[in-house]
Amino acid sequence: MALALLGIDIGTSGCKALLIDAAGAVLASHTATYGLAQPRPGWTEQDPALWIEGARQAVAGVLAARPDVELAAIGLSGQMHGLTPLDEAHRVLRPALLWNDQRNGAECAEITERAGGLEGLLRLTNNRMLVGYTGGKILWMRNHEPDLYGRVRHILNPKDYLRLVLTGELATEVSDASGTGLFDVRKRAWSAPLLERLDIDPALLPDCNESQVVTGRISRVGAELFGLPEGVPVVGGGGDSVIQTLGSGVMRPGELQTTIGTAGIVASALETPMDNPDGRLQVFCNVAPESWHCMGVSLNAGGAMSWFRDLVAGFSRDAGALSFDEIVARAERSPAGAKGLFFVPYLYGERCPHPDPLARGAFVGLTARHDPGDMARGVMEGVTHALRDIHGLMQKAGLRHSVIKASGGGARSALWRQMQADLFDCEVVTTEGAAEGGAFGAALVAGVGIGVWPDARSAALVCKPLTRQAPDAAAGETLRQAFAIFEGLYPALSQSFAAISDAALDR
Ligand code: XUL
Repeated sequence: MALALLGIDIGTSGCKALLIDAAGAVLASHTATYGLAQPRPGWTEQDPALWIEGARQAVAGVLAARPDVELAAIGLSGQMHGLTPLDEAHRVLRPALLWNDQRNGAECAEITERAGGLEGLLRLTNNRMLVGYTGGKILWMRNHEPDLYGRVRHILNPKDYLRLVLTGELATEVSDASGTGLFDVRKRAWSAPLLERLDIDPALLPDCNESQVVTGRISRVGAELFGLPEGVPVVGGGGDSVIQTLGSGVMRPGELQTTIGTAGIVASALETPMDNPDGRLQVFCNVAPESWHCMGVSLNAGGAMSWFRDLVAGFSRDAGALSFDEIVARAERSPAGAKGLFFVPYLYGERCPHPDPLARGAFVGLTARHDPGDMARGVMEGVTHALRDIHGLMQKAGLRHSVIKASGGGARSALWRQMQADLFDCEVVTTEGAAEGGAFGAALVAGVGIGVWPDARSAALVCKPLTRQAPDAAAGETLRQAFAIFEGLYPALSQSFAAISDAALDR
């Protein structure tokens, strides 16, 4: 029987299971979707039972597709920063608070203050406590649900809750631990001094391993629930945004991954835990020992394009009929620079490089000459400018890149990839398996854990190039000229964004 590796990714909108062979080729993939609760504006929650049911269905899907393989190891990936609180008996105490939950701004400020200000916090963790991170959520629960918090005995991230159900083990690994904001990424260990200052009992947090370490084996209960063979090793895995860089083959400095999903991510591997001076980037442990990861997340990428498509469809008689490809075809007819039209994409506020929940979107530079194609191009260029803006922070920190590996739904568009090549003045490639996201990286880490590959860098070599695009000098010049203007738009508009929010006109 051929040997197979299973990656399971607990995403925000669904769970993907992916089977690959020992050469990294995809054998089967199955996704089961689930919903997200928004009990109040800015709150996002999910019942962990949905993850387990989603994982059960997704795993059943791939096992049914390939009954002919022998499962050698399992790797887990998942949405980062979520809080899953458990009681003594490992029962879930409340729906998990997710990465995009915005409720804990006050607690993040409290954490920063208790840590001795931003500088003090950066000294302890090398990261700011962003509103999405787990640390602020723990304090929120303590402040707002003290009775329930009193019963909390264990705190897990989403993929680690799946691990518990599969293996009975309470464990995490360094990449997801980094995203709690309670982890000293330089030392690759929980920050004991920060936990003490925050009065968080370290016993609430699981043991933390390197990502490729086998953290347990499929238990009898896990085997019955998932139809998996008992005893299969389960490795640590990784937080989705980190582990998907491995799935794009980005494990060496000099390579940059851009992801255009709902959000946009610009990420790179690091050989040392570089300093994160004003904490505007996220500097995490990577899924290989002695490797780190630097990224900036824009909350507005493919989501901005979906908004634009829905907007245009709303004006058409045949609402809903306009496809993404048709919008891109119209954008293609507009020249680089969209005839001087700019789109500021901050429709959902922004995280990096402007940590500003009040930031908003804007078209700037409209004239009567602009047509819908220019607007479509403006949206795509605006998103590309936002990615470039994040890269500017990385360049200021001394990082240099000579190739972009594009991933996410937006990487399916040759035009969007070309915009990146032109603006960044850099070759853009897509790679095999990258479209499978975190699940692919998780399957690769599983392979490293059982010795299929000696290390993550060797595993990354299975990510063979699929497409390559070289920068176009003329378009690049225009886009870089446009980017210099784009960089000035947020500083020019941010006061107006705050004033719009103060006026509460959208109540
Ligand atoms: C990373 C982040 C998201 C989540 C959701 O910092 O917030 O990418 O991991 O997938």
